[in-house]
Amino acid sequence: MCLLARASVLALKCASASSFGPESCVSWFERAFLRSSERGLCFGFLRLSEYSCARACFWVADLKLRVVGSSKAFCARASFEFGLDNTSNTLIFNTPNTLTIALYLYSLLHLLSSTAATTPPYTPTDYFLLNCGSSSNAMSQDGRSWDGDATPKFSPSNIGTTSSPSTATEQDSSVPGIPFLTARIFTSKFTYTFPVSSGPKFIRLYFYPANYSNFDGSKSYFSVTAANYTLLSNFSAFLTVSALVPRQSSLVKEYILNVRDTQKLDIAFNPSPNSYAFINGIEVVSIPNNFYIKGDRIPFLGIQQPVYIQQSAYFDNNTALETLYRLNVGGNDVSVNDDTGMYRTWHQDYVYIYGAAIGLVPHLEVPIRYTNETPNYTAPATVYTTARTMGQDPNINLRYNLTWIFTVDSGFWYLARLHFCEFQPEVTKENERIFSVYMNNQTADQEVDVIHLSGGNGIPVFKDYVLSVPPVDGLQSKVDLWLAMHPNVNSKPVYADAILNGLEIFKLNQSNGSLAGPNPEYVPLPSKQNSKMMLLVFAIAGGVIGGVFLISVIGFLIFRHRRRVRDSGASVVKSKSTKTNASSLPSEGLCRRFSLAEIQSMTNNFDDELVIGSGGFGKVYKGLIDGEETTVAIKRLNSMSKQGAHEFWTEIEMLSKLRHNNLVSLIGYCEEGDEMILVYEYIENGTLANHLYEINTSGNICHISWEQRLNICIGVARGLDYLHTSTQQGVIHRDMKTTNILLDKAWVAKISDFGLCKMGITSDFGTHVSTDIKGTFGYLDPEYFMTRRLTKKSDVYAFGVVLFEVLCGRPAVNMRLEEEQCSLALWAQHCIKKKKLGQIIDPSMRDQISPLCLTVFTKVANKCLNNNPNGRPTMADVVVSLECALAAQDQQGYTSRC
Ligand SMILES: *[C@@H]1O[C@H](CO)[C@@H](O)[C@H](O)[C@H]1NC(C)=O
Ligand SMILES: *[C@@H]1O[C@H](CO)[C@@H](O)[C@H](O)[C@H]1NC(C)=O
Ligand SMILES: *[C@@H]1O[C@H](CO)[C@@H](O)[C@H](O)[C@H]1NC(C)=O
Ligand SMILES: *[C@@H]1O[C@H](CO)[C@@H](O)[C@H](O)[C@H]1NC(C)=O
Ligand SMILES: *[C@@H]1O[C@H](CO)[C@@H](O)[C@H](O)[C@H]1NC(C)=O
Ligand SMILES: *[C@@H]1O[C@H](CO)[C@@H](O)[C@H](O)[C@H]1NC(C)=O
Ligand SMILES: *[C@@H]1O[C@H](CO)[C@@H](O)[C@H](O)[C@H]1NC(C)=O
Ligand SMILES: *[C@@H]1O[C@H](CO)[C@@H](O)[C@H](O)[C@H]1NC(C)=O
Ligand SMILES: *[C@@H]1O[C@H](CO)[C@@H](O)[C@H](O)[C@H]1NC(C)=O
Repeated sequence: MCLLARASVLALKCASASSFGPESCVSWFERAFLRSSERGLCFGFLRLSEYSCARACFWVADLKLRVVGSSKAFCARASFEFGLDNTSNTLIFNTPNTLTIALYLYSLLHLLSSTAATTPPYTPTDYFLLNCGSSSNAMSQDGRSWDGDATPKFSPSNIGTTSSPSTATEQDSSVPGIPFLTARIFTSKFTYTFPVSSGPKFIRLYFYPANYSNFDGSKSYFSVTAANYTLLSNFSAFLTVSALVPRQSSLVKEYILNVRDTQKLDIAFNPSPNSYAFINGIEVVSIPNNFYIKGDRIPFLGIQQPVYIQQSAYFDNNTALETLYRLNVGGNDVSVNDDTGMYRTWHQDYVYIYGAAIGLVPHLEVPIRYTNETPNYTAPATVYTTARTMGQDPNINLRYNLTWIFTVDSGFWYLARLHFCEFQPEVTKENERIFSVYMNNQTADQEVDVIHLSGGNGIPVFKDYVLSVPPVDGLQSKVDLWLAMHPNVNSKPVYADAILNGLEIFKLNQSNGSLAGPNPEYVPLPSKQNSKMMLLVFAIAGGVIGGVFLISVIGFLIFRHRRRVRDSGASVVKSKSTKTNASSLPSEGLCRRFSLAEIQSMTNNFDDELVIGSGGFGKVYKGLIDGEETTVAIKRLNSMSKQGAHEFWTEIEMLSKLRHNNLVSLIGYCEEGDEMILVYEYIENGTLANHLYEINTSGNICHISWEQRLNICIGVARGLDYLHTSTQQGVIHRDMKTTNILLDKAWVAKISDFGLCKMGITSDFGTHVSTDIKGTFGYLDPEYFMTRRLTKKSDVYAFGVVLFEVLCGRPAVNMRLEEEQCSLALWAQHCIKKKKLGQIIDPSMRDQISPLCLTVFTKVANKCLNNNPNGRPTMADVVVSLECALAAQDQQGYTSRC
């Protein structure tokens, strides 16, 4: 059994679970490094969040989980939640289902993060947690303590006759037991009363629409009012949950309202006729004054004032808000315990991004300097140290709008709070990055210069905008709210780019005090566990650290699909593409633009007969152009592919600039509607991988001689050296592997696939800015994985793996082999150390390689795999060494130079 395989199964399962997004999964694995041992895998988690530090190690073997070296506090809590056997320190999950394990591990991570090390910036004056339908106090998974509601502390004394406690008849494994497992059911109006100080409060209502004893969850309709505001009306938690994106089983509604001098807050539940109401949990938390609800009235934005609202309307402390979205843009989920003391949850933003143009997500741990205008409780530092930007290429950035789409109810006003912070070291002065903000196609802000607003790098700032979403045909319905950003280059800033760090969107009450919108239509569960949602491809990077094999799991190539699952028949149907057809690239001449019709005629309308390759990106077709004179390879990008618009344009930019005998040439491209198509020169002999170990169509492996192999390696090394050194900054390929090396008629190697390319480290906009770790299973530089710092030496590492593939005639990762042999990089290094290299050489090569050539070749290959990037040779060094190896192959030609 291969441990790596098991680890990837875990993560794959983890990613297909609906309760959290793939990016939490990514971060989960990024933070962990898996160490193989006889006992299992060790997940070592380090600094977890803003306010907590924890270190723990879990040994997973045979579905047992062992907690090693963690703090006492953690173990006590784990024992509470997971039935940890504290005599043997072993957790046993009696489940055959790895999914559950993954979920538990994920929950453990959250547990860890709740071991708070410092106190958060804000301490609420009022803080109540009510677990409805429960008679005793209990602690939830996140370590918060909930009161039961059977006592008359917040409930009327006749609670026993006017309502009934109940337990859900079935419980989805993704739903936390507290507070969701129990509910209080009402068949008539029922009021909870909380004694609170005056001032603004969060009210959070927790709903899990399951069946409760003989009450059918889908038949419940009710309204909720609080302090004379209607929060919900004829509300169906069942319908609302069915339409949630991403899919989940439970629901938390959050409201903000201002409690006046009455010193009490009434929250009333009122069933619709012939129905019943229920509630699982209620949370009340104070908010700092003048934070969301400001005394200093914010004027409404919007060009046309709709008729249903007074011209003079202002957003003041009589207004109640409902939180619809709170996003840590470009970052991970932030849980209640990692907030600044208000127990807010911040979600990832990737679900809301429109189309394939997702930009980049820089992240840099810099100290955040809060100000009087943006006090330290505004948002946790992790919101400000992660962001989404448009990308590094101004030509691409100027061609699109970075766009998010949110579903909202029409007929309301909305408050959008945009959080900004420049943390990238390149942006420190005014007029370096300026952009426009649009909402629903209106200009909300012509010019945002974050440094101008905040006063400097590392200083956060937020801006509020209020806009109206008028009713459609006089009716309330679910509609889209668009937020878009575009570089503003009028004042010639240094970068044509935009940035957003955080976003909150609130609904404002109507003039009658209501926040209630219509129920969405029922969205049935998809028939299968939604596999089109994403597909993860794993990468393993290997290296020897402290004599122990360290296996890093990485490299998520996520097939992003168009995230347009919406919940109302009333929403406007829109075309999928925002791009215009008139666009053309600046690098004229070198790269041709084809029309879709031309491509269709070349490929016989994408005839499957002409497919010469396929992958996650889409299919590659063979075609003829120029009067059937030139054969070309036509790569049609799947619109759901991870190789989104950004990669598409990167590849075009790179290949139009770079020309070298060992790089594949791009002939042209086509961009029409949803189609993104690249046209390359046709390379007859296919990929290097094919000739090393993949079985060809006639069922044989077509072996190429050792000398041919050496020449191919030299060609690739020259191509990479050209990439690294030809331009001032250099280009990093990022995805060097044998399937990206093509061989032409004369067996000359051509490097292909430039979609992940990055400009080199010296003047890269966002030098030490980590991006999503990208690359391929088996080729990933462990240093890049650990530090997220991308350098040219990461390509050198991957090339080292290629050299061993050439020598050993086996793939970089082979899950069918024994555990220690799965990863070629690890296995080869192990064999070199043990002086057993002879064993792993491709059997068909053994007699062909001269001993001296073998020594020179393995020496350079091994050097490329050095864990320390500084210990790896440059590609120019590699070229020289390989030439020596070639010379050594022919003993006569061997010179003293080597
Ligand atoms: C295990 O932990 C629980 C909860 O902290 C405690 O009550 C119990 O006494 C512990 N058992 C042992 C054997 O230490
Ligand atoms: C937050 O800011 C307040 C006032 O500036 C300060 O007293 C407090 O120590 C800060 N808290 C943290 C956790 O930084
Ligand atoms: C809830 O109960 C109804 C009828 O009582 C049944 O049709 C439905 O399947 C149940 N729902 C679940 C999720 O079990
Ligand atoms: C709610 O409205 C009633 C009458 O309209 C008023 O008497 C009462 O004070 C209001 N309550 C609050 C909390 O504003
Ligand atoms: C409540 O909502 C449901 C479904 O949205 C609808 O069928 C029903 O007529 C509504 N009832 C009232 C009283 O509005
Ligand atoms: C609401 O704002 C007004 C001024 O606009 C102020 O006089 C009043 O005290 C505020 N009320 C509360 C409860 O903060
Ligand atoms: C904004 O513009 C886009 C593209 O032109 C369009 O599809 C969309 O419906 C518009 N949105 C609104 C709210 O007008
Ligand atoms: C960006 O959005 C604005 C407002 O909707 C629109 O006017 C503009 O044309 C868009 N730009 C691009 C490049 O799509
Ligand atoms: C919200 O409700 C309050 C009280 O009913 C009202 O005074 C205020 O005008 C409403 N706000 C809006 C934007 O209609």
